Amino acid sequence: MIALLLLFATALSAQETGKLCAPCHAEYVASLRTHKHFAKGIGCEVCHGSSQQHRNAAGATAPDRVAAPDEVPALCGGCHAAERKEYEPSRHGVLVLARGKTRAANCGTCHGVHSPRAAAAMERQCARCHASLPETCRKPVNVASGKLRCAVCHSPHSLARLTPPGSTP
Ligand code: HEC
Ligand code: HEC
Ligand code: HEC
Ligand code: HEC
Ligand code: HEC
Ligand code: HEC
Repeated sequence: MIALLLLFATALSAQETGKLCAPCHAEYVASLRTHKHFAKGIGCEVCHGSSQQHRNAAGATAPDRVAAPDEVPALCGGCHAAERKEYEPSRHGVLVLARGKTRAANCGTCHGVHSPRAAAAMERQCARCHASLPETCRKPVNVASGKLRCAVCHSPHSLARLTPPGSTP
C-alpha cells in the first residue's frame, strides 16, 4: 500500500515539495522538512491538493482539502493501513469516527501533522485528556529511549493492554 501511494507522491522531488505553498506558508514548509514525509517527497499537495484557486486568491478561497478530525484516520491510513486497522476499532477510533462531543485522539493528535512529535511531546498530549490516571500507570517500567512510556503497557493504536516485559502478571 505504501509503495502504491508513493508512486503518486514521487512525482514531486524533495526540493519541489512545498514550493507552491512556501511563499505564504514558509513555517509549515519548515515544519514538514523535519518529517520523514518530506524526504519521501510527500508534500503539502498530497494532503491538501494543489489548491490552485486558493493560491490565486491568496487564501480567500479555501484549499482543495483540509481533513477534519474524523477524516484524518482515512487520510493517514491511505498509506499506513496497518495502523488504521488497529486504530479504528479502538476506544479513540470509535469516538473520533462517531464525531460526538467527547474529543479523543486521532493520528495527528499523537504524531503531529506537519512536524513529527517525539515521545515526550506525545506524552504531554496524553496528559491533556488523561489528567488523572490509575496508580498502575505510574509504575516504573523499562522503556527504550525515545519511546513512549505508556506504550509499554498500552498498545498505542488498538489500546489493548500489554504485559510489560519482566513483570509478573
Ligand atoms: C498567495 C498566498 C498563499 C499561497 C500560495 C497558499 N496559501 Fe494557503 N493560505 C493563505 C492564507 C492567507 C490563508 C488564511 C490564513 C489564516 O487563516 O490564518 C491560508 C490558509 C490555508 C489553510 C488553512 C485553511 C483552513 O480552512 O483552515 C491551508 C490548509 C492552506 N492554506 C494550504 C495551502 C497549501 C497546501 C498551499 C500550496 C498548495 C497553499 N496553502 C498556498 C495563503 C496562501
Ligand atoms: C500528511 C498530510 C499533510 C501534509 C503533508 C501537510 N498537511 Fe497541512 N494539514 C493536514 C491536516 C490533517 C490538517 C488539519 C489538522 C489540524 O487542524 O491540525 C492540516 C492543517 C493545515 C493548515 C491549517 C492550520 C492548522 O495548523 O490547523 C495549514 C495552513 C496547513 N495544513 C498547511 C500545510 C502546508 C503549507 C503543507 C506543506 C508544507 C502541509 N500543510 C502539509 C495534513 C497535512
Ligand atoms: C502518501 C502516503 C502517506 C500519507 C498520506 C501519510 N504518510 Fe506517514 N509515512 C509515509 C512514508 C512513505 C513514510 C516513511 C516510511 C519509512 O521510511 O519507513 C511515513 C512515515 C510516517 C511516520 C514515521 C516517522 C518517523 O520519523 O519514523 C509516522 C509517525 C507517520 N508517517 C504518520 C503519518 C500521519 C499521522 C499521517 C496523516 C496525518 C501520515 N503519516 C500520512 C507515507 C504517508
Ligand atoms: C494514542 C496515540 C496514537 C494514535 C492515536 C496513533 N498513533 Fe501511531 N504510534 C503511536 C506510538 C506511541 C507509536 C510508536 C510505537 C513504538 O515505537 O513501538 C506509533 C507508531 C506509528 C507508526 C510507526 C512509526 C515508526 O517509527 O515506525 C506509524 C506509521 C503510525 N504510528 C501511524 C499512525 C496512524 C496512521 C494513526 C491513525 C490511524 C496513528 N498512528 C494513531 C501513537 C499513536
Ligand atoms: C484528545 C483527547 C485524547 C488524547 C490526546 C488521548 N486520549 Fe486516550 N482516550 C480519550 C478518551 C475520550 C477515551 C475514552 C475514555 C472513556 O471511555 O471513558 C480514551 C481512552 C484511552 C484508553 C482506554 C482504552 C479502553 O479501551 O478503555 C487508553 C489506554 C488511552 N486512552 C491511552 C492514551 C494514550 C497512551 C494517549 C497518548 C499517547 C492518549 N490516550 C491520548 C481521549 C484522549
Ligand atoms: C506499568 C503499566 C502501565 C503504564 C506504564 C501505563 N499504564 Fe495506563 N493502565 C495500566 C493498567 C494495568 C490499567 C488498568 C486500570 C487499573 O489499573 O485500574 C491502565 C488504565 C489506563 C487507562 C484507563 C483508565 C480508566 O480509568 O479506565 C488510561 C486512559 C491509561 N491507562 C492511560 C495511560 C497513559 C496515558 C499512560 C502514560 C502516561 C499509561 N496509561 C501508562 C497500566 C499502565
